Amino acid sequence: MTAIVETKNVSKRFGDFRALDDVSVAVREGEFVSIVGPNGAGKTTLVNLLTGLLIPSNGQVFFKGTDIAGIGAVALAKRGMARTFQLVQIFPQLTVAETIAAAVVSQQDKAWRLFSKLASDGAVRARVREIAGIFGLDGRLKSESRLLSQGEKKLLDVASAFALNPEVILLDEPTSGVSTAEKHGLVQILIDAAKKAGVKAIILIEHDMDLVAAYSHRIIALSEGKVLADLPPKPFFADPVIIETVIGRRRST
Ligand SMILES: Nc1ncnc2c1ncn2[C@@H]1O[C@H](COP(=O)(O)OP(=O)(O)OP(=O)(O)O)[C@@H](O)[C@H]1O
Ligand SMILES: [Mg+2]
Repeated sequence: MTAIVETKNVSKRFGDFRALDDVSVAVREGEFVSIVGPNGAGKTTLVNLLTGLLIPSNGQVFFKGTDIAGIGAVALAKRGMARTFQLVQIFPQLTVAETIAAAVVSQQDKAWRLFSKLASDGAVRARVREIAGIFGLDGRLKSESRLLSQGEKKLLDVASAFALNPEVILLDEPTSGVSTAEKHGLVQILIDAAKKAGVKAIILIEHDMDLVAAYSHRIIALSEGKVLADLPPKPFFADPVIIETVIGRRRST
């Protein structure tokens, strides 16, 4: 099957430092792919290239068959790719409803926005409630974002990405800073939301190997900017060299 998202021989240099070196990866429709690797392996750099935030030094990045190098996150979101950030980027003073509404409105085209302010406000409110419901934030619509727990902030960040109606969603460590007990629930909410929203592919960056093992169809391991492995979970976790490199020790389970 053809790839929705693909890099071909991509390298990214920052000055003399090579953060990514000849990386070719592809994600197809229906796939849940995790990207793992030690700190500094190049995971976020890869996501920044996949989302058009960075321009590759060499190679190409394709989204739905189009070269999207450096196109920018806003333009790419309109084409159907949304992401969350490793460090949650929410406006602390906005309420949950306002935060989601901003994403919903950003996705409407101008003509529709001007068509009828009243009608559109009603539609936006309905959509905000719908999205908040999916992420279990319906009880928090009027709360200022800064008052949310870390887990709720993560959910809000992801909810805003989902408000963009993406075909592909990239999640950069959605569970970082969230307690171990909350992590599985959070990922399960994400997967359910993705199904409801008709998301075609999920790309997850994650350090927690139990989560990666439980949910991925395929796992891509980066190490020092190179693809170390690109395998389904079973052969991935059966290879002690990969595991040693990725987490520096064997899995305890
Ligand atoms: N804008 C930049 N300028 C210079 N070096 C950078 C830049 N962005 C990333 N790097 C370097 O590139 C390497 C890869 O960084 P990246 O953020 O992609 O790693 P990562 O795998 O996401 O790590 P982590 O698990 O800590 O999030 C690191 O050594 C980092 O210091
Ligand atoms: Mg990172």
